[in-house]
Amino acid sequence: MIEWLLTPLAYLTGSVSSAIIVCKLMGLADPRTNGSGNPGATNVMRIGGKKAAAITLFGDAVKGLLPVLIAKELGVDSLVLSSVVFAAFLGHLYPIFFQFKGGKGVATSFGVTLGVNWLLGLVVSGTWFLVYKISKISSLSALVAATLTPLYVWLIVSDLNLTITFSLISLILLWRHKSNIQRLLSGQES
Ligand code: G3P
Repeated sequence: MIEWLLTPLAYLTGSVSSAIIVCKLMGLADPRTNGSGNPGATNVMRIGGKKAAAITLFGDAVKGLLPVLIAKELGVDSLVLSSVVFAAFLGHLYPIFFQFKGGKGVATSFGVTLGVNWLLGLVVSGTWFLVYKISKISSLSALVAATLTPLYVWLIVSDLNLTITFSLISLILLWRHKSNIQRLLSGQES
């Protein structure tokens, strides 16, 4: 039963917004009120450049990766693992430490996929990089990777709980990108 404590812990870990902390520590503008207004690596890139963005990306991925690795180390079943995955993702979107106003969840979802299965993480991030190389648009890369993730989970991990969880994550991720989708459709996405 103690394993269910991992879910609230994953939510707390997910609630640590790397973008807000990195920008504060590096003396950069607040990503919530500058650029796209999204506290995520892409917007930190706009505000503070590559180094700040790379640290943000790393931090947001690790906070998804760690709770999943700990849960796996403790030998939890796929239902608990799914709950930990979802909680870390949700923590990033609705962080308790930042008035429940978080990011879109791309880096954190990479982190959790990597924790669930390293090959899955590689394929998801490989998809992102491939689309980015062609389009040079971060949001489009995230949208394509998110759309394909449930299929990858089913093919690589073959677990129903995790496939349902990642389908839900992908749907939420697409919904969080609705302003990006509108800009993409009107050819105005940066
Ligand atoms: O991960 C978020 C990215 O896909 C888009 O971010 O700042 O352009 O809304 P942004």
